[in-house]
Amino acid sequence: EMDNFIDNLMGKMTLEEKIGQLNLPSEGDIITGLGSNSNIAEKIRKGQVGGMFNIKGADKIREIQKIAVEESRMKIPMLFGMDVIHGYETVFPIPLGLACTWDMDAIEQSARIGANEASANGINWTFSPMVDIARDPRWGRVSEGSGEDPFLGGAIAKAMVRGYQGKDNSFSENSNILACVKHFALYGAGEAGRDYNTADMSHIRMYNDYFYPFKAAVEQGVGSVMASFNVVDMVPAHANKWLLTDVLRNQWNFTGFTVADYNGVGEIPSHGLGDMKNASKLALDAGLDMDMVSEGYLNNLSALVKEGKVDLEQVDKACRRILEAKYKLGLFKDPYKFCDSKRAKKDIYTKENRAIARKTASESFVLLKNEGNVLPLDKSKTIAVIGPLANTASNMVGTWSVAAKLDKPLTLLEGLKEVAGKKPNILYAVGSNLLSDPKMQQAATMFGRDIPRDNRTEEELTAEALAIAAKSDVIIAAMGEASEMSGESSSRTDIGIPAVQKRLLEKLVATGKPVVLVLFAGRPMTLVWEQENVPAILNVWFGGSEAAQAIGDVVFGDVNPSGKLVSTFPRSVAQIPLYYNHLMTGRPASDKGFEKFRSNYMDEKNAPLYPFGYGLSYTTFEYTDITLNSTDMTANGSIQASVTVTNTGNRAGKETVQLYIRDMEASISRPVKELKGFEKVSLKAGESKTITFTITEDLLKFYNSELHYASEPGAFRVMIGGSSDAVKTASFNLK
Ligand code: IFM
Repeated sequence: EMDNFIDNLMGKMTLEEKIGQLNLPSEGDIITGLGSNSNIAEKIRKGQVGGMFNIKGADKIREIQKIAVEESRMKIPMLFGMDVIHGYETVFPIPLGLACTWDMDAIEQSARIGANEASANGINWTFSPMVDIARDPRWGRVSEGSGEDPFLGGAIAKAMVRGYQGKDNSFSENSNILACVKHFALYGAGEAGRDYNTADMSHIRMYNDYFYPFKAAVEQGVGSVMASFNVVDMVPAHANKWLLTDVLRNQWNFTGFTVADYNGVGEIPSHGLGDMKNASKLALDAGLDMDMVSEGYLNNLSALVKEGKVDLEQVDKACRRILEAKYKLGLFKDPYKFCDSKRAKKDIYTKENRAIARKTASESFVLLKNEGNVLPLDKSKTIAVIGPLANTASNMVGTWSVAAKLDKPLTLLEGLKEVAGKKPNILYAVGSNLLSDPKMQQAATMFGRDIPRDNRTEEELTAEALAIAAKSDVIIAAMGEASEMSGESSSRTDIGIPAVQKRLLEKLVATGKPVVLVLFAGRPMTLVWEQENVPAILNVWFGGSEAAQAIGDVVFGDVNPSGKLVSTFPRSVAQIPLYYNHLMTGRPASDKGFEKFRSNYMDEKNAPLYPFGYGLSYTTFEYTDITLNSTDMTANGSIQASVTVTNTGNRAGKETVQLYIRDMEASISRPVKELKGFEKVSLKAGESKTITFTITEDLLKFYNSELHYASEPGAFRVMIGGSSDAVKTASFNLK
């Protein structure tokens, strides 16, 4: 039925109208890159626009859709995309934080709510999930992904696609929207952590690690794929036929459409592959269907086809894929399916959605340290809340929350007061500026994420902070990064707490009062001094619309923290790249410190400060040894690995039990451990539960030197624990 409909439609379209479908010009009112588009209505009338993005408002979108379906010759409805990456108006934690919940249902639900709100306001396509594996916290966009692990990243990719598109990809409801997995590929592997930079790696690593979550999203039926800005094998991803056609379509059977990133086609010449005309040919031939912003397709494809340099068939294929997406979404039946202003009033930023966002946020925080059980705090104590992130609403929601109303969230100060109850004894001082350089502070707080500059001297600000600290029982230091210090084009070489804030923190610690560092961060940070000197550290990422109340919930113990890191926190930037699933060298470091002729540093440990999978709770958990039901496994059989976990503290808590496997006898060197399963369990004080993982051959497969995906017989090590560096171990053999 769909094929007939589209055959019929395309039979009536001119070449120019087909090319028009491939054009995704610059956005409406929300800025997500350089460039702008005028005369858009005229282009739509001429059939030169396939979709637009980042426009907010059902009425506004309806008006534009109306031009397309009433005033253009072919009356083809448009796609309306948006970066709904961690919620729409109800904002959830940044994806890096969401991943730390290790809760696939909660993650799916966050995408579901994002889709529900966005679709109520005219949006039918989201540029999410972002699944780039990232092992370099200097890169600002680590905040947008699920960290360093392929297996967890794959599970999250599937959960998010399910949340956006619905479980069966039928788009039967007007709250199911098209997902777009991005950025294909290797965007997270840019050299030196600098955004948009060159990436270069072996195909084995691509297939085993960096491609894994993309493939998972394709298996889940993701409707679209966005190309990445970087080169892959020295060819810009936007012009890379091997990537966009051989791998994505021929090997993985992807049937949706591909889209450029912002001006990605326009940037091909800058990589040194000729002019715009050539760039447009290269991109279309590579298999890039939709051109975001550059208008290279619009301006060049018609001539290229007429000159015989591009096959009409290639234009037809791209056009068909985009029309198929529109058809599946139901836009030909009802182009206004997603423009229901009544629904917009009813479904967006609801009490229910915000309650879920609050709960999810409280589960995304990671307790990094809690010496002497400083946390949770007693609500009746006098608390000094100090720091440049204590009194800002707009910085609670994190990067890429383009639809959020930035004045809506409570500030941390307000959130703490609300949760503390009737007569909170909470004092406040700003204590320091965000950054010492006013110009950089401005750059770090753009897009309305304002933190006003305090023009008093550092001494004056410190003195005020110390004065309120003196009157308090405990100090909360609200410090770290502002929202826009991570995200796109926010790479940093120093990933510690900015110096001006750190000086204040040192003085607060020197008072001898207990200090709780509430750390705002869009990336793993270097915190060696803090780990050694600050009694309690709670990493709260950017928790979204309800972050402040959620922080209150955890700080005062209404919620027991359960987040576990999905990205290694290095001790120093010089250790980067640092990730748990690394290979073993021929000369591993000794555990007795530096030794000559070993793979180690003279001046630093190899180990990170906080490893992948790490995170504390207000209670404690103990693990028994692993029980295997057999130590031999056949390729079509399975093995069960069990541990019993006991809550040995005196309050209820949640623990994420992690399964890791190492292949000890393979044809290539395999990682020292790789996550292959996880389960989040709730345990009452004193309660025990037995967790059983079933290990099948599938979990033992990898891409070998021939890029053949298979298991290899031999010895395997299985490891289970509450963090990648705290595991019980057992061994089995694959026959
Ligand atoms: O979706 C984004 C992408 O992640 C980065 N560049 C801009 C796009 C559209 O806003």
